[in-house]
Amino acid sequence: MASGTSHLMTQRQSSVFDELVQIDEFFAQLQKPSNLDSIRTKAGEFCKRNEHLKIALITSGGTTVPMELNTVRFVDNFSAGTRGSASTEYLLQTGQYAVIFLYRSKSLEPYSRHFSPDELLNQLQWEPETDDITVSSSFKPKLREILKHKKETEDRLLKITFTTLSEYLFTLRELTLVLNEFGSNTMLYLAAAVSDFYIPPENMAIHKIQSSEPLRLHFELVPKVLRPLVKFWVPDAFVISFKLETDENILLSKARKALTKYGHKLVIANELNTRKDKVTLVTETDSEVIKVDSQLNNVEIEKFIVENVVQRHQDFITQVEAETSTH
Ligand code: PMT
Repeated sequence: MASGTSHLMTQRQSSVFDELVQIDEFFAQLQKPSNLDSIRTKAGEFCKRNEHLKIALITSGGTTVPMELNTVRFVDNFSAGTRGSASTEYLLQTGQYAVIFLYRSKSLEPYSRHFSPDELLNQLQWEPETDDITVSSSFKPKLREILKHKKETEDRLLKITFTTLSEYLFTLRELTLVLNEFGSNTMLYLAAAVSDFYIPPENMAIHKIQSSEPLRLHFELVPKVLRPLVKFWVPDAFVISFKLETDENILLSKARKALTKYGHKLVIANELNTRKDKVTLVTETDSEVIKVDSQLNNVEIEKFIVENVVQRHQDFITQVEAETSTH
């Protein structure tokens, strides 16, 4: 019996070890960004300054997958960063959270997302006689409200950018080293659309691929980092992943499968074309639909998603505290 148990333990330990080695090997062949130390320092200081609050990491936007080492071309995806940037605003407005917003460079950002540079310019007038610049009075109420929210929350927002898949993965891993200290007070809200395929640097062309003949590319699978993230990097945090499909018939079953596979708390399932009007929050035991008519009522579904997940995170913290006090 004793030797059977110890044999089992050894097997388990070795499979955990194998998993860690595999993920390390995967990271080792990627191009490591040079700014990780400064990101970690910044994030550490930010979290310390806000340790009286709950901390959220919100990821947002798509990742690029380079085709050449000296990159001219890359493969990208559709994500505009609406989900992540809007959710960041609503979460900050609860007053309960400090937010690290990890977003794809040039995708939407909190507050500035409300207007394009052109829209903003069209609302400004230059008066040649006085050399003054004025804002259209019809635009002022909207602008005032956004500036007010921005000012009220700027100390609680840290923005960090990525562009490529490897920048995203390395930065995410680095940030979890900081966040892990805050245990169940941390929420990860993984709304970024992360590529599942990549070309390993050793298989990549060094220079611009020439267009002398048709091109065939081979992509390898990116391991889902959700697994090490939940299991090893931030095992005590409240982790929310998103599941995107274009076929509604497989969406919920894939979301449930993700929960079983990765062992986190909540998957928010959405279908590409209806994602602004409908999401389903899937847990191990149930599912809850949030529906809005974004066109008709000028509402954003992120407001309701955030209200819902804030409550779930609080319930999670309460449960963890209750369990800790009985041990
Ligand atoms: O930005 P918008 O235009 O507003 O769109 C929002 C959104 C549709 C992108 C967002 O709501 C969403 O669904 N994001 C997740 C999209 C996605 O990557 O789904 P997936 O099924 O491919 O991945 C599921 C989860 O695995 C994601 O939480 C992702 O963070 C994670 N993942 C993905 C790839 C990878 N290699 N490792 C991962 O851990």
